[in-house]
Amino acid sequence: MITIKSLFRTKSVDQIMGDQAQFSESVHGSGGMKKALGVVDLTALGIAAVIGAGIFSTIGTAASAGGPAVVFLFLFTAIACAFSAFCYAEFASSIPVSGSAYTYAYASLGELLAWIIGWDLLMEYAIGNIAVAISWSDYFTSLLSGYGLHLPAWITMDLLTASRGYELVQELLNTGVSFTDLAAKGVSNASIEAYQAWTTAPQIFGFHIVADIPAMLITALVTYIVYIGIQESKRVNNIMVLLKMIVLMMVIGVGAFYVKPENFSPFNPNGVTGVLKGVSGVFFAYIGFDAISTTAEECKNPQRDLPRAMMYVLGICTLVYIAVALVLVGIVKYDHLAVGDPLAYVFGPEGANVHWISGFIGISAIVAIFTVLLVFQLGQPRIWMAMSRDGLLPKVFSKLHPKYKTPSFSTIVTGLFVGIPCMFMNLTEVTDLCSIGTLFAFILVCAGVLRMDPNRPKVAGRFYTPYINGKYWFTGMVLLTVVLLMLFNADSMKSFFTYESWDSFRHKIPLWFFIIGMGFLTMLTYVKNLSLIPLLGLASCGYLMTELGWTNWLRFGIWLAVGLVIYFLYGHKNSKLSAKAQGV
Ligand code: ALA
Repeated sequence: MITIKSLFRTKSVDQIMGDQAQFSESVHGSGGMKKALGVVDLTALGIAAVIGAGIFSTIGTAASAGGPAVVFLFLFTAIACAFSAFCYAEFASSIPVSGSAYTYAYASLGELLAWIIGWDLLMEYAIGNIAVAISWSDYFTSLLSGYGLHLPAWITMDLLTASRGYELVQELLNTGVSFTDLAAKGVSNASIEAYQAWTTAPQIFGFHIVADIPAMLITALVTYIVYIGIQESKRVNNIMVLLKMIVLMMVIGVGAFYVKPENFSPFNPNGVTGVLKGVSGVFFAYIGFDAISTTAEECKNPQRDLPRAMMYVLGICTLVYIAVALVLVGIVKYDHLAVGDPLAYVFGPEGANVHWISGFIGISAIVAIFTVLLVFQLGQPRIWMAMSRDGLLPKVFSKLHPKYKTPSFSTIVTGLFVGIPCMFMNLTEVTDLCSIGTLFAFILVCAGVLRMDPNRPKVAGRFYTPYINGKYWFTGMVLLTVVLLMLFNADSMKSFFTYESWDSFRHKIPLWFFIIGMGFLTMLTYVKNLSLIPLLGLASCGYLMTELGWTNWLRFGIWLAVGLVIYFLYGHKNSKLSAKAQGV
């Protein structure tokens, strides 16, 4: 029976570890997954997951909106991630099993929230990887074109892009514009290519066959690597990470010589609003350090190495990002940077004009984006596996391959889950959806640490988030923020609190949620002396979430609602804890 108590039942850490050990033995009697990862491998995996499509593409739009001040956004986002990283590290150190935030939530916040977070992570990883696969395909096909190898347009994009391009171009052609004049009329190359994809595509019963085949093929290849073993994944990954770091160092080193100081002025052309426009892209660039926690069962010493690796990853990536951002806005004026391949662009004729490095950047982007795919494709099945072990998903999801010791069924499902949609979906907004899902997971992990008793006995050798009493610090910071806003941003505050129409109000809903949540949290902190670091993580990630727009919140809400239906129809009934409560 579903009762409130049953929704919030937690699994103790001992129970989780016991179940995991029992599962490993029962499956193969051989200690379960292969323990192949050390701190260097984990750091490499983290860098692999973090540095990818974000820095190679979305940073351009962020820089063009925020100007050189976008470096502060990189800094602020890194700080927000660091607060959450502390919390992740604490859990990863005390519950080193594959479920990542899902398992942490099970131990601290209860089954319902654990399910929600697990479901949310599946979306984050799958949607993120669909975007990453498409972005990989874009870089790959343009690299091939650079070498004179042109793939037919209809196998390099999705149906929607092709049909939209067709409609746009056809409309102009109907008005008498000739095909050769399209570019002069301001039609982008991408639209012309989309038109060609549509018109040259084979048809079956009038249906145009347009699909992003490279995106599907790369997903299949990555799924295969992940399927055959963690050892193989590790080797491929380490080499590729080394390569991408060398290229990025080169970008920074060579780029520094072409920086023009006058490009840094004006430093903050569009104010805070302009900088904040880049939130989604910049946050997307940081996603991934959390993914290494899904490999906990394959680490040699997870308690020690996972927390360290997360901190190293965050530190290294922040330094790289800030340096790259400075080089980018230093070489080319910020308002020219709204391009899909900003790194290659600044070294092209519009910027430094160093031809040889542009080629390297193309190859490096392909490698970098490939590793992101690899780590997320590795992480996702391990979360399915953890949820299945707890009974929230069917048993087959936790089946380990007898030889490779990887969650074989889940890995294949993950491959299909990403490989099929990435052929057909147009995903201009997926980075936003991926970012919102990740921020939500970060918030719940911070909330999980807040639920822990800071005075509980500590186990030597484990990582704990340092406890600083938030009573005065946090309440002080919240009050100070309110006062500063009233002094310096009174007009925006006034318009925020004024109701004009539903249309304008619905965009304020995320911020309303945040304000109410903050008020509640501040009171709770004052009364319960909550710990400052998770509080700051929660507040900063919560704020970043409000910047992601109402439409994304709506889509995210729909995804969670679907998840809840599955939980109430299947998960709750089949949960191991339900069986235990019934004495089965
Ligand atoms: N951080 C990853 C990327 O930028 C998701 O591709």
